[in-house]
Amino acid sequence: MLVTLEGLDGSGKSTVWEALHDSYPDAVFTHEPTESWYGEAVNRAIEDDEADPLATLFLFTADHADHLSRVVRPALADDELVISDRYSDSRFAYQAASLSDSELTRPLEYIRGIHTAFSRPPDATIYLDVDPETAAARSGATNKFEQASYLAEVRANYERLIDAEPERFVRVDATQSPEAVIDAVETALERLVE
Ligand code: TYD
Repeated sequence: MLVTLEGLDGSGKSTVWEALHDSYPDAVFTHEPTESWYGEAVNRAIEDDEADPLATLFLFTADHADHLSRVVRPALADDELVISDRYSDSRFAYQAASLSDSELTRPLEYIRGIHTAFSRPPDATIYLDVDPETAAARSGATNKFEQASYLAEVRANYERLIDAEPERFVRVDATQSPEAVIDAVETALERLVE
């Protein structure tokens, strides 16, 4: 089973992902961007304010393709529980926002389309829901993806994804304390894997 964690920067996703290591010691924990050289290229694009948004989309997507073939598909073939901190929905939400003023007419649909051809959709996605102002303040707004106005667009895209597939998503209120968020995610996960 493939479970993904999604949310804005500063939603506490990575803290939750760390905490889950104790409750699911046998699961395969992974994340996007990965630590491969593709992931390193992605990190360069994240830090570069001049990076072309369409080129950045393809770097993230290349990293995803490598992540799938090297980590996710082999683990699923072995019947492992895979828990990924960010996955395809991050592209649908973030890069669709980066490309909202581009030559693409429907960026979110376009990005989903690229993935449909080769990706493995998550079985379930836990969405840590936080408002863009809290997200930007918590993340320190150190790069272009962490500004409140941009995160507002990203959040609207996540809402569109949830509307399209409500059965795949579990929404958790991430404005609560970290302990309460971890509890809520653990309860959600117990139900999903039972
Ligand atoms: P991440 O490493 O999850 O950041 P953090 O741990 O600081 O939350 O992701 C780095 C940034 O990349 C984050 O701002 C979200 C963005 N991102 C995308 O824009 N598209 C993607 O497909 C992914 C995986 C991340």
